[in-house]
Amino acid sequence: MSDTAELELGPLHDYYEFEHADEDFRAAIVDGLSQPQKRLSSKYFYDERGSKLFDQITELPEYYPTRTETAMLRAHAGEFAELIGPHASLVEFGSGSSTKVRILLDALETPAGYVPIDISREHLIESAKDLADAYPDLMVVPIAADYTQPLELPDIAGEVVRIGFFPGSTIGNFTYGEAVEFLRNAATELGTDNGLLIGVDLKKDIDILRAAYNDAAGVTAEFNLNILRHINRELGADFDLDGFTHDARWHDDKGRIEMHLVSKCDQSVDIDGHKFDFVAGESIHTEDSHKYTIDGFHALAAEAGWRAFRHWIDADELFSIHYLRVA
Ligand code: AVI
Repeated sequence: MSDTAELELGPLHDYYEFEHADEDFRAAIVDGLSQPQKRLSSKYFYDERGSKLFDQITELPEYYPTRTETAMLRAHAGEFAELIGPHASLVEFGSGSSTKVRILLDALETPAGYVPIDISREHLIESAKDLADAYPDLMVVPIAADYTQPLELPDIAGEVVRIGFFPGSTIGNFTYGEAVEFLRNAATELGTDNGLLIGVDLKKDIDILRAAYNDAAGVTAEFNLNILRHINRELGADFDLDGFTHDARWHDDKGRIEMHLVSKCDQSVDIDGHKFDFVAGESIHTEDSHKYTIDGFHALAAEAGWRAFRHWIDADELFSIHYLRVA
């Protein structure tokens, strides 16, 4: 599991890596594109370029979730710290650049540790080192892993409570079943008497949602198309990016924004010896972004073994943050 032999740990206390076979990526792409409704998992958006494009999305005027959640984290940091108590360790699922967690770390009383988990190894290590430099008394133990799979968390010296942190409403990108499974695994990994602070995007006016996923600058379209670029690079595929167009729509019955890439013409694509045919207008379903009501999210959390302890909503009722305890 741990592979620190070749890694210069610098200010980090330890480093864990859970191996993923390359075959997983190839098999998942081939399997998804072999379905009647072609599918690609949104987790494959996040290569280096995709992560940068997502960072740009978070700055867009139309994309309200990041700035709303960040403002809420700042406004309520003192309350979170009081609920969580001293000597906590924070476990962040999908830590990215570890930006938002700093708001919590600054507010917590003598935090014991920070465990960022991310699939993107290089970015994870870089961000964890920056954070460890900024918080020299904090035990920082990054884990390179797919956090949607069960994993084992390290013990942090002096930790009194272990709190999961899952901001950004990434839970919305999971199907209902995946969300239950993720939350259930998190409850097991974090353990009894521990908690989870999670950001959940809310149902709202459709025009606000539509604009957030169809920005005027076209960054979301680039982000969507980048998944094809990623597959071309990793698997030597020959997707023509000009042959597909971005489509993001609200589906009221499913309570979600669906993103698709729509083929502009009849075409075929070769992926490592597999040929995939597209007719004009046929789409690849690349992402779901579910939006919840407070009650809807509480029901989901309860099904996964969590007790809703407290929640916060911004003044415009766009976004929610929930503090859950293992039931
Ligand atoms: C990461 N996730 C919560 C984003 C969302 O809003 O579903 C990903 C995203 N897709 C398009 N824009 C942003």
